[in-house]
Amino acid sequence: MPENIISVDGFSSTGKSTLASKLAEYYNFYYLNSGLMYRIISYFALKNGFIIKDKVNESQLINKLNNLNFDWIIDKNGNNSLSFDGKTFGDKMYSFEISDIVSSVAKLESVRKFLFTQQKNLVLQKSVVVEGRDIGTVVFPDAKVKIFLSADLDIRTKRRNKQIEENNISFDTKKVEDNLIKRDKTDSERKIAPLKKPKDAFEIDTSKKSELEVFNIAKNYIETNLGS
Ligand code: DC
Repeated sequence: MPENIISVDGFSSTGKSTLASKLAEYYNFYYLNSGLMYRIISYFALKNGFIIKDKVNESQLINKLNNLNFDWIIDKNGNNSLSFDGKTFGDKMYSFEISDIVSSVAKLESVRKFLFTQQKNLVLQKSVVVEGRDIGTVVFPDAKVKIFLSADLDIRTKRRNKQIEENNISFDTKKVEDNLIKRDKTDSERKIAPLKKPKDAFEIDTSKKSELEVFNIAKNYIETNLGS
């Protein structure tokens, strides 16, 4: 099978995971959630005591990371997910504690280099839908199709609240909105691989669209561009 990569980049809570996982299922591609990789590394850093009062000990963290790998796990239905250091990670990766520190971890050069290599290795000789912030610009600039999602802040806050509620995590709307604003700012203004729309990406504003509408718009675009 030829290697096909579809990138889905965009701001937090614009619907990237929903769209990327649906596209992967529809085309029978692997699905790679690079944001989850940054969340897992943040959790790992916290758990090992490499983050104290919001300050990350970058050298200690990278020393530990260099012996570890992400891998695919394929279940009996053929669905794929990720393991790190042989372990799987659940909904707690989406807790406030992790959301609050993930952008600080994601701006570190050594962490980005480590995950860049991991992402390249995971995608080797596979057809994959990859979601993130720098996928179409830095990690896979040659992706066959690039999609960029945007949405109004109030809609994104509502979606994020709903997701948090569904995961039974207590929340406060103001804290959710502040976290989205803070992450957008850190992710867009960081020196290395900042979040920005790839020049050749197709943008979908998901504010007033259902999940199905967004999927159909993306599918139509992919079908006119993937084969070419
Ligand atoms: O998609 P998400 O909200 O789960 O991503 C969590 C954080 O990870 C996000 O705030 C920034 C970082 N991230 C990144 O820097 N680069 C990526 N390719 C994906 C995520």
